[in-house]
Amino acid sequence: MSQFHTLTIAKITQQTPDTVSVAFNIPESLTDSFKYIPGQYLTLKFNINGQEVRRAYSLCSSPLTDDLLEVAVKKVEKGIVSSYINEELSIGDKIEVMPPQGNFTLEVNPSSSKNYVAFAAGSGITPIISIIKSVLNNEPKSKFTLVYGNKTKESTIFDKELSELSEGNLNLINIYSRENTGNALTEGRINSDKVNAIIKNDLELLKADSFFMCGPEEMIVAVAGSLKVYGVLDEKVNYELFTTPVLLAKETPKEETNFSGDATVKVIYDDEEVEFSLNSKGATILDAAMQQDVDVPFSCKGAVCCTCKALVTEGRAIMDANYSLSDSEVAEGYILTCQAHPASANLTVDYDEA
Ligand code: FES
Repeated sequence: MSQFHTLTIAKITQQTPDTVSVAFNIPESLTDSFKYIPGQYLTLKFNINGQEVRRAYSLCSSPLTDDLLEVAVKKVEKGIVSSYINEELSIGDKIEVMPPQGNFTLEVNPSSSKNYVAFAAGSGITPIISIIKSVLNNEPKSKFTLVYGNKTKESTIFDKELSELSEGNLNLINIYSRENTGNALTEGRINSDKVNAIIKNDLELLKADSFFMCGPEEMIVAVAGSLKVYGVLDEKVNYELFTTPVLLAKETPKEETNFSGDATVKVIYDDEEVEFSLNSKGATILDAAMQQDVDVPFSCKGAVCCTCKALVTEGRAIMDANYSLSDSEVAEGYILTCQAHPASANLTVDYDEA
């Protein structure tokens, strides 16, 4: 079960002119709650101008090499929270933070001898660098290639850290869209043509055991499309979206159900049970639970994170969209409650089992 804890900012680092990383101390009493797998994210809660806002940020630290938990946040245009984090936070500030979550992960195994390839652009590097540091420090026989797109060298988050890692086992390919590198392969954007050129330049990349992608949706679509054309199996390809997709937007296939009308929904959260009536075409289970004053967990409300995940223990629910739960989690009965509606007369949804 997820709930917010108060953490203290131990360090703030200006990574680029518009990106800071914020590192948290984890008190001894919370070390178990804040254990994480490389690639996971934290949900942060703020009160800005009297409004409660939540955002999920990927951890850029590695549980295997770093003592502090650290997220990096790039200031986005009109981004209230990203501006607040970049401009207002100080060391010693107390922030409400939910324990790590997320499925864009890699379990490191010191005896593994694998090839990994990642494509990242901009702040999409955050979960990827956590995975890279974890692999390079703990899988001595594995190799990692990173294709990393940015406007310029100056705007490249973790530029120094990555170039140091590239002196070891990291094969680093920086692509700049506004920098003259003198090499057509490393100038431009990570689009289909670029991916094809990079692969043709090093066909070994196609033999990777796993591919990771994080960045703008256009990049993810382009890379995934090219890998598919080259015959890379879907199960080897992992991606993380930071925003609700447009190109990838699809209705989650709905289960067959004859049910429509009012359902009796029981929500279990923090060992408390709340029962209410909810129409199959009404609010989502998350919103309905919140209307009952249940402090259920959520972050994006857009099917991208999995902060609102819960287990259906009785009855059935249908999701409008799902970009974060794996097929096996769905098969086990997990739902994104921010997307879910009742599809049976009686439904029990348990957040404590998530
Ligand atoms: S709150 Fe992010 S998927 Fe529901």
